[in-house]
Amino acid sequence: MRDAAQPIYLADYQPPAFLVEKVELTFKLAPTTTRVLSRIRFAPNPAAVPGQDLHLDGEGLRLIAASIDGTPLTATPDATGLTLEAASLPDAPFTFQAEVEIAPEGNTALEGLYMSNGMYCTQCEAEGFRKITYYPDRPDVMAPFRVRVESDLPVLLSNGNPVESGPGWAEWDDPHPKPSYLFALVAGDLRATTGHFTTMDGCDVTLNIWVRPGDEDKTAYALDALKRSMLWDEQVYGRVYDLDIFNIVAVDDFNMGAMENKGLNIFNSRCVLASAETATDGDFAAIERIIAHEYFHNWTGNRITCRDWFQLSLKEGLTVFRDQQFMGDMRSHAVKRIDDVLTLRARQFREDAGPLAHPVRPESYVEINNFYTATVYEKGAELIRMLRLLVGEDRYRAALDLYFERHDGQACTIEDWIAVFAEAAGRDLSQFKRWYEQAGTPKVTLLEHWEDGTLTLTLRQYSAPTPGQPLKEPLLIPVALGLVGPDGAELMPTQVLELDSPEQVFTFTDLPARPVVSALRGFSAPVVLEHAQSSAESNVLLGHDTDPFARFEAGRNLARHILHGMILDGAPPNPDYLNAMRLVLVDDRLDPAFRALVLRLPGEDELAQSLHAAGHTPNPDAIHAARRRALCLLAEALAPDLTRMVNAMATPGAYNPDARDAGRRALRLAAAGLLAHADGGTKARDIFAQADNMTEQFGAWCALLAVGAGSAESLQFHRQWQANRLVMDKWFGAQVAFAQPDLAPAVAEELTRHAGFDWKNPNRFRAVIGSLGAHPAGFHQSSGAGYRLVADWLIRLDTANPQAAARISTVFETWSRYDAERQALIRAELTRILDRPDCSRDMGEMVGRMLG
Ligand code: ARG
Ligand code: ZN
Repeated sequence: MRDAAQPIYLADYQPPAFLVEKVELTFKLAPTTTRVLSRIRFAPNPAAVPGQDLHLDGEGLRLIAASIDGTPLTATPDATGLTLEAASLPDAPFTFQAEVEIAPEGNTALEGLYMSNGMYCTQCEAEGFRKITYYPDRPDVMAPFRVRVESDLPVLLSNGNPVESGPGWAEWDDPHPKPSYLFALVAGDLRATTGHFTTMDGCDVTLNIWVRPGDEDKTAYALDALKRSMLWDEQVYGRVYDLDIFNIVAVDDFNMGAMENKGLNIFNSRCVLASAETATDGDFAAIERIIAHEYFHNWTGNRITCRDWFQLSLKEGLTVFRDQQFMGDMRSHAVKRIDDVLTLRARQFREDAGPLAHPVRPESYVEINNFYTATVYEKGAELIRMLRLLVGEDRYRAALDLYFERHDGQACTIEDWIAVFAEAAGRDLSQFKRWYEQAGTPKVTLLEHWEDGTLTLTLRQYSAPTPGQPLKEPLLIPVALGLVGPDGAELMPTQVLELDSPEQVFTFTDLPARPVVSALRGFSAPVVLEHAQSSAESNVLLGHDTDPFARFEAGRNLARHILHGMILDGAPPNPDYLNAMRLVLVDDRLDPAFRALVLRLPGEDELAQSLHAAGHTPNPDAIHAARRRALCLLAEALAPDLTRMVNAMATPGAYNPDARDAGRRALRLAAAGLLAHADGGTKARDIFAQADNMTEQFGAWCALLAVGAGSAESLQFHRQWQANRLVMDKWFGAQVAFAQPDLAPAVAEELTRHAGFDWKNPNRFRAVIGSLGAHPAGFHQSSGAGYRLVADWLIRLDTANPQAAARISTVFETWSRYDAERQALIRAELTRILDRPDCSRDMGEMVGRMLG
């Protein structure tokens, strides 16, 4: 009963009028005429306002027949579903039955039941189930499902445990009550790699990774990651798996990364399939993380779900936090934290600083698919990290135990979540809760005053207005801080200062000498810290801080400062900086992965963001040119050491995707990539020629492309990999990502005319159009060619797959940073996207918010 463009408000939440006791579904699969038969046992909800109608969501369904307790139904559906009037319903439990017809083959939106390379699969989160049959498609209606699938395809899967099967059919039973968004069905010619896991309760669980024939050799890593995830969740959170079987299916056409459907996770094939030859270290790490993420949802998301979609971060923020902890345990906490902060700044701070800023718990939405954002996911995870820091590790665990015990089987809210922490920690967290309600990245200013052995720190916080939120209340911000002596010795170990007012003063007395302040250790809060430090002070922290994040950050601050100087007035980098980088590069006590991160200069978009925040209008061409010049100067200054590192970091023996070898390869490729700016790519060419793994082959090719070389390698790469879809996504993407800025739109345009450009495949579309949007100097060409090409393709994609198109439209979210000419060009393209009679609800909301 919703109007297409009408917002839904959190404040309007009403409990469902009816609960569901049991769902039975039969699918008779056919590409254009799939029949779905449903039998749904409804019961009045004692917690609801009595006398309400029962609305069954349904979209694009052809209703064949429906009945209540066997009596044919007279109601007719509208565009949003079927409304059963209260007066016509029994006030005792009743059975609703329906038969509908749907056409999965024509479903290019990849939501609901659709087809990908001849296989049937589903994506129901958030509101896809209503495209399958009539149902109260909301997460607070949870029910056990029994599903029968009929098809000639050999493998027929659904949620839960298999019960019975025969030629052409299979039945599945999921005893755990679940919301419809966790429903899944798969049918296809698939092959399984099978493993087993014994739970801590002694139950045997069968694990399957299902892939298309030919991909079986790329499943071992995912299966191993799954076993490690299951063990970790038992050991760290006491969470045990609860079915006899856990299935994972790889699908080529998928809008997102993966989906945690109960007992039947469905994955974008790029998030499952990996072999040494075809996947990079980064791909392996992403697979490990996403396998863990979806598995962890079994408790944080499935057993305990969300009351409504405003609470999305309840499951996503928590599950991201859990996957971050897992990855830290599997690999390196220091490197993982730095990586996570870089991602947060690149995606979430960017979002928070623009027209799409929204709270971790939004208050309204038009299309919920538009809120699967970095704010809900990554900032949501940061809020949990802060909670843990504030209450301590033991109480964090106690709060989680309480959460699982109290809320198992329920659909919950952020209030429920905060309450378990308040209880476990015995403290009032109402101020902390504002983090869930206020959008925007707070700015924290730190001022130092030194006198007679006493250091006085003044901390201030400020949150700028964001759309719909002109005024902000002060937040509770944990600032982890240590003091370091001028010689690098730790003078005061980390203390967590709680900043809860606009301004607060903290004093540290009896200090022998003026210390260097190491603030925001571990990135203890998702804020922008303004703290003026000399380059000498930054060098002390970079060389000696006990906190690895703070060391990294000190190097980053130096680099950003130098790049700002080069961009704004052509100032050359000072020799101290070059020397500091050399010291890090050659320090064998440091983890190679950490060194690779320190050597990486801030990206062009990050520089545009920081220049804009400092009151400048960023010029994408100038940023690109200055960054390139900095790379050349760094390469020339460090050339002999870089050459030595390329050789020293070789990983002899068989490829191993573990953190140790991956870290060495990361430093090796970082060194070769930098060196290419001085040697024209000689070393990178060697690495490419000798590579026996995709990490080095692709890394070396990218290093060549970045300095305008690598055309022979491009041809070879294409020749070698043209039959591999996932590797070809890399081939498409890298050519755009590393194109010379003035040529980037033309390179992308040319690739859209390539026979392999299957634009309806989200991975491929993203590889070309998404890569152009992520190439700041190329996308923001002053001619407007980049904007035009992206807008043309978003318009095309919007008619087939609104969800994917709306997501990629965020490439435009930074428009207000730029000069008046670029702003006008972008606004004209956004207006062109919006002013179409067939503009989707998804895209309409995104563009409408961006135009303000
Ligand atoms: N719940 C999935 C995950 O984070 C993502 C599903 C996204 N779906 C969507 N329609 N936006 O693991
Ligand atoms: Zn998730």
